[in-house]
Amino acid sequence: MTELTGKKIVVGVTGGVAAYKAAELVRLLVKAGAEVHVAMTEAGARFVTPVTFQALSGRTVWVDAWDARMPNNMAHIDLTRGAAALIIAPASADFMAKLAHGMADDLLSTLCLARDCPLLVAPAMNRQMWQSPPTQRNAAQLRADGVAVLGPAAGEQACGETGDGRMLEAEELFAALLAHVTPKRLAGRRVLMTAGPTFEALDPVRGLTNISSGKMGYALAAACANAGAEVTLVSGPVSQPTPWGVQRIDVRSAADMHRAVMQHLARQDIFIGVAAVADFRPARVAGDKIKKTAGAPPTIELLENPDILADVAAQPVPPFCVGFAAESCELDTYATDKLRRKRLKLVVGNLVQDGMGGDDNVVVLYDATGRHPLPPGPKAAVARGIVDHLAALLPPA
Ligand code: PMT
Repeated sequence: MTELTGKKIVVGVTGGVAAYKAAELVRLLVKAGAEVHVAMTEAGARFVTPVTFQALSGRTVWVDAWDARMPNNMAHIDLTRGAAALIIAPASADFMAKLAHGMADDLLSTLCLARDCPLLVAPAMNRQMWQSPPTQRNAAQLRADGVAVLGPAAGEQACGETGDGRMLEAEELFAALLAHVTPKRLAGRRVLMTAGPTFEALDPVRGLTNISSGKMGYALAAACANAGAEVTLVSGPVSQPTPWGVQRIDVRSAADMHRAVMQHLARQDIFIGVAAVADFRPARVAGDKIKKTAGAPPTIELLENPDILADVAAQPVPPFCVGFAAESCELDTYATDKLRRKRLKLVVGNLVQDGMGGDDNVVVLYDATGRHPLPPGPKAAVARGIVDHLAALLPPA
């Protein structure tokens, strides 16, 4: 279940090589349980045929404004009624020009003009076409009209040139749509978060770390951003993609993480510590790789790391502080102790054997009113549950 489940989404495809990515977008939306309707321009249908979109969406694909299959012949009106969003992907330079000037000379442009739902466009074109003054004027006009212009990205183009104009990937467009349809429970809030493990160096190639994958923290960062928050994510070394709309700061050690958090703490409304921060670090970091001496393994002396969450919560005017508690037993006892001892507003408790490293999690929320178990599930769903609970606890903005 996502916020897209059961929602009607209309995907408009115009003429461009990137039309192949729209097929993947439709597949992702259908997989998420959305009701997907596809309308194409004639140029779009030359790049990928309607048959592909029909097979992926399981619905009739609309191209012709004079198509008599719609019982009242009002496809240009009916298709967006009840839709949560209309996304044009790819949006060609020509189609953006039409949209900016309110032209309606085919089914898709008429649909855009007659819509009663938010419109998102994902430009895809050669870099010179994108940078040309008319296209830039048209993009600015669309933004001024309340249209969300997604991308374009920079990179290698189908024409062989390199620059701005590549359509965003299907996964990025899916994330943008998900953000678009999610209720804005954290609108106007600034959230600073930590996620992932830390790495405490022993020598240039070795160190102490843990098995946190960053999945829980990244899912929560995405859920906060989708709920309208401005999110800064201080991340230990992980291989997770940066969530849509999140500002990411990469760090390695607990000391780096502490420094980055303190640098970005001013004006934050909420702090969430999801990172599995190493409590200790080696007292000395060898400049060269430690050599093996037979029969004399080295002894590692450890020093205590700063507690980032406790330091944030101890600020004179702290943000709303949320901590995680990763335990292997007696979750209630340890989590409620952390709530009180670290002076937190909310603690998310989980057993390491349930959630660390994997895709799913089982969490219990602890706050001043008691314990609140969330339904077990994928980390994205658990993250949405945490955001809903957190939003309800916040003082008015
Ligand atoms: O990354 P995943 O594989 O998805 O796994 C998710 C998770 C299990 C790591 C996550 O759900 C979780 O529980 N994170 C907190 C892990 C942890 O270090 O818990 P703790 O009980 O040791 O620390 C309590 C709190 O203090 C945490 O919010 C932690 O971020 C914070 N802390 C701890 C030590 C320290 N030096 N600085 C801190 O800020």
